[in-house]
Amino acid sequence: MINENLKEQNNEDDELIFAPEDDELVFAEEDEDDEGEVNGAEAWKIMLVDDDEQVHQVTKLALRGFSFEGKALKFFCAFSAREARQLIPQHPDLAFIFLDVVMESNDAGLKLVKYIREELNNRLVRIVLRTGQPGEAPETSVIIDYDINDYKTKTELTQHKLVTTTIAALRSYRDIMEIEKNRKTLAVMNNSLKEQASDLSQALRELQKTQLQLIQKEKMAFLGQLITGVAHEINNPVGYIFGNLAHAEQDVGNLIKLLEIYQETFPNPGEDIREKLESLEIDYVVEDLPDLIDSMKEGTVRIAEISKSLRNFARADSTEAVLFDIHEGMDSTLKILKYRLKANSERPEIEVIKNYGNFPPIKCYPGQLTQVFMNLIANAIDALEEGNQGRSYEEIKSNPNRIAIATELNEKENTILIRIKDNGIGMSREVKEKIFEHLFTTKPAGKGTGLGLSISRQFVEEKHGGSLSCISELGEGTEFRIEIPVS
Ligand SMILES: Nc1ncnc2c1ncn2[C@@H]1O[C@H](COP(=O)(O)OP(=O)(O)OP(=O)(O)O)[C@@H](O)[C@H]1O
Ligand SMILES: [Mg+2]
Repeated sequence: MINENLKEQNNEDDELIFAPEDDELVFAEEDEDDEGEVNGAEAWKIMLVDDDEQVHQVTKLALRGFSFEGKALKFFCAFSAREARQLIPQHPDLAFIFLDVVMESNDAGLKLVKYIREELNNRLVRIVLRTGQPGEAPETSVIIDYDINDYKTKTELTQHKLVTTTIAALRSYRDIMEIEKNRKTLAVMNNSLKEQASDLSQALRELQKTQLQLIQKEKMAFLGQLITGVAHEINNPVGYIFGNLAHAEQDVGNLIKLLEIYQETFPNPGEDIREKLESLEIDYVVEDLPDLIDSMKEGTVRIAEISKSLRNFARADSTEAVLFDIHEGMDSTLKILKYRLKANSERPEIEVIKNYGNFPPIKCYPGQLTQVFMNLIANAIDALEEGNQGRSYEEIKSNPNRIAIATELNEKENTILIRIKDNGIGMSREVKEKIFEHLFTTKPAGKGTGLGLSISRQFVEEKHGGSLSCISELGEGTEFRIEIPVS
């Protein structure tokens, strides 16, 4: 069978090029350069790796004048696997390699395949194994175990076979390059699409942020107007009641005096009157009426105070800073939050410990500052309530919920410092890093929007040129510090 093949291959047209008679073949070198060009034109780079010098010469001779798709071949020659290892990395655009197996060792060629595919990660170059000793590298196991593209024994390589093998390898390389080119183009397109998508979603997030901010601002402005209006409306009737209470007090006093005179003058007014005096409990009424009027006066004073707080709190901010008593602003805020501070079925009243420094009103934007106080104190109350989870009323009573508010003037730095500290749940480091981010909240939907602190920081830092910072320890509590320069 083999003999027949050899015979067939040995005819004139299809000469077996590795036949021993082909000794000493010499041919002229083409004018090649290192850039993959032959005679100045683009060429296919191919590498011959074989320790037999004659194989190189014969292959070159057999492929002499060869061209595929208008491009000639440019040869690179390595006479050992070691030499090939140095050459191949310099030519990542090699189209294919004719590779001998047995060179410095029995599997030098196979190791080179692994080096090319795995270490250089070159999956594009076509590799055609060409061995003179197929016993060292049996075809089936080699083609399964090694990423090669063809397997030939040297004896089967006639000139025609060499040419068809070369064409098949180049065609396959060309197709693979085309696919690779398309893959790269697709990857670039994909990346740019991804970038566009991320730009778009970033823009969307910005838009949502701005929208929320606008809604928040509008809501605050509307609430401010509403509160100021209501506070104003309350003020008039309360003033009226308060004024009249003074008259009522006087009149009631007079009536009581008159009654006393009557009783002295007519100690025995008759049965009817005595009965009436008793059934109406006039003695008690006379005693209680002044207290009643006093408590009514107290009530109206409180209503007047609340209305003043509301107006203070909702003060529409002018474009210029105005003189404002920080402590009055803080007290107004506390009064508005009174309903959240007072005792309920789960816990006693939250203690508020005030430690105000002694300094005069400062120039600032009062509406914004009271909004900051409001956000910080409301957050503190939330944190206290979260910390109360799982604690009984009695436990909370023995270690009460507390908010400490301190202010001080730093004359040297010309700043005021406001500290609002709670002994609530505190924060982990991960949460603390994010609290000033827009829309960051750990509260359930509907309870927190995650805007409070980012707006507060904006008000303190951008509008007042100050700073808003936070110290917190999980399970210990939190302190927020507002520092504002005073001119
Ligand atoms: N005093 C505090 N103690 C513990 N955690 C706090 C405290 N203040 C703020 N945080 C944390 O910071 C987060 C962000 O606070 P921020 O005020 O910005 O939003 P929010 O309170 O969740 O919602 P809202 O927009 O209604 O204020 C809170 O969800 C909470 O996790
Ligand atoms: Mg908040």
